[in-house]
Amino acid sequence: MKYIRLKRLRRKESLRNLFRETNLDIYDLVMPYFVVDGKNQKQEINSMPGIFRYSIDNLVRDIEQIYTKGIQAVILFGVPKIKDKTASEAYKKEGIVQKAIRKIKKEIPEVVVIADVCLCSYTLTGHCGIIKNKNSKTYEIDNDDTLIILSKIALSYAEAGADIVAPSAMMDGQVLSIRETLDKNGFYDVAIMSYSAKYASNFYSPFREAAGSFPKFGDRKTYQLDYHNIKEALREIETDIKEGADIVMIKPALSYLDVIRKAKESFNVPVAAYSVSGEYSMVKAASQNGWIDEKNVVLEILSSIKRAGADIIITYWAKDIVEWIR
Ligand code: PBG
Repeated sequence: MKYIRLKRLRRKESLRNLFRETNLDIYDLVMPYFVVDGKNQKQEINSMPGIFRYSIDNLVRDIEQIYTKGIQAVILFGVPKIKDKTASEAYKKEGIVQKAIRKIKKEIPEVVVIADVCLCSYTLTGHCGIIKNKNSKTYEIDNDDTLIILSKIALSYAEAGADIVAPSAMMDGQVLSIRETLDKNGFYDVAIMSYSAKYASNFYSPFREAAGSFPKFGDRKTYQLDYHNIKEALREIETDIKEGADIVMIKPALSYLDVIRKAKESFNVPVAAYSVSGEYSMVKAASQNGWIDEKNVVLEILSSIKRAGADIIITYWAKDIVEWIR
């Protein structure tokens, strides 16, 4: 037997296009935004070149721009001025995210608005939950007290007009608690995208700079997943689906392609993957040094995430990709 020829289908670009198995689609992409108080604010984030904290006026202008180019979904993170013990800024009617949602819905109603539901930017401790005891060495997060607050936040985002709420605190029961609260108040049509498999990752630091959410003590390992594990992630996803999650998310994305693939094969709900801040910053830094080609590396990374099984990709490059895949 002669050897088998496989390269015929790669001979030229048009052939490769014809046999391409994975295509990035701009409709799959979600652009994250950090929102601050004030007017005409556009503050670049030091560790995330090209990503900014916007005041609402500039935010709406930027979303208008990317919407015209085809990006139709955004996820919002509030960066509040005031923090307190119970994260009360997060569920105020006049909170930064609530105001932003109302404004976006007024100006560009078609845009899918996703609101991140968490406490970490709003608490003095920088933790995603309420702290039970004060001793910072033996502190514990009060899961059930946190559920009450997460539900309040989700409800206030729904009242402001959010299409999807996205709990990211990794508290047990957060999806059920939010679903029940939304339904009790008539928000049957507000969907839940749960950060189901959110790992205690080292890739979040640029985000924490952007959102001002570094934990003041300890870390998030008591509530976020251990990166050595995948079965545990699947249990988290399964539980969230039972509790009513419409979309499940794996986060980060690039180091967790196996988890994305397994989730996609195991469940019948849309799978989202969050390509996080650290993934963005690594590529940015290398490309700014001229060591790699940003556009091609990003297209390769995001195509891999899609190939692994992600239906939805949250990425800080959403804006740029629109131009790149045209
Ligand atoms: C809030 C939250 C975080 C991210 C999304 N939602 C930070 C964290 O858990 O510390 C990280 C996103 C990113 O790194 O891009 N809990």
